[in-house]
Amino acid sequence: MPLNEKEQNTDPFNELTPFTMDEIEDLLEQLEDSELNGKEQINEEISTIDSVKLTYISKMVDDASSQIEEIFKTVKQTNALPLDEIKSEIIPVIEEVTEIPHVYHLFKELHSKDEYTHRHNICVGVISGMIGKWLGIEGQELQDLELAGLLHDIGKTKIPESILLKPGKLTEQEYLEMKRHTVYGYQLIKKVPEINESIALAALQHHEREDGTGFPFHLKGHQIHRFAKITAVADVFHALSSERVYKPAFPFYQVISDMNNGVYGEFDRTVLYVFIRHMMATLVGKRVELSNGNKGRIVLNDPYDPMYSLVQIGEREWVDLQVMKDISISKVHP
Ligand SMILES: [Fe+2]
Repeated sequence: MPLNEKEQNTDPFNELTPFTMDEIEDLLEQLEDSELNGKEQINEEISTIDSVKLTYISKMVDDASSQIEEIFKTVKQTNALPLDEIKSEIIPVIEEVTEIPHVYHLFKELHSKDEYTHRHNICVGVISGMIGKWLGIEGQELQDLELAGLLHDIGKTKIPESILLKPGKLTEQEYLEMKRHTVYGYQLIKKVPEINESIALAALQHHEREDGTGFPFHLKGHQIHRFAKITAVADVFHALSSERVYKPAFPFYQVISDMNNGVYGEFDRTVLYVFIRHMMATLVGKRVELSNGNKGRIVLNDPYDPMYSLVQIGEREWVDLQVMKDISISKVHP
């Protein structure tokens, strides 16, 4: 069920219109302000600096992906997890990437590369860390969460390549074996005495869903560890946003809208809300195309339902997507 519909049952503010007339008048004044052009120039200067930083970060993620590929090969051969190497080599990269404020651009960059499997592990670590910070998790717990994201699919090292790399549809038996990567991951991580159990639980439960439709145990929301709820959102978001052999990268709005509408099972509402709110916040000021063909710029997002934005079209026209529900954003320009 969409956030918006659920909010209506519990949110005392649901009767408020997304933008009051006063707010819109304020916006009009701000946008007519003669300083606007100056502000846009400053933003463009910042984005040049960001693009240099993003190229640097992308290279770091490339290198870390190659390293984790080697580490996972060792895990496959030895059935043991080199925790010290992971903590000293990979986690610092993940921590640095989570510091990048312009996550939308960051993920555009990281989705567009050829190599997927190992980059996916790094990116799930990064996105999990970002969500954790937005939820107020810090210190050792945050580092454990990043490790949980990085290792969520470590159990796939135990799945035969004939299944893992099969180009066609899996048989029922092969699919059952594939789903066991959750249990294999849990067992592998649990063997390491100094590792926190929450990391093993994230590997075990990251395919569980709030409504009990996930696997391997069909757990319901209250039975699922918080780390697994966070890595689930990070895993699905990055997988859908990435180009794969069998599918194109889905556009950002389609991904978050489908996740919000339960197309990939029910996610934890708080985790998903925080994720969408922060991702959407990075889009304010961006040029967009709407499904009705109009082009404009996102002015602000609805704080109660961040899927919806106020979009400025031309000089003096605004479209409130919370009200105009038959119109949606079809493309975001960099
Ligand atoms: Fe998985």
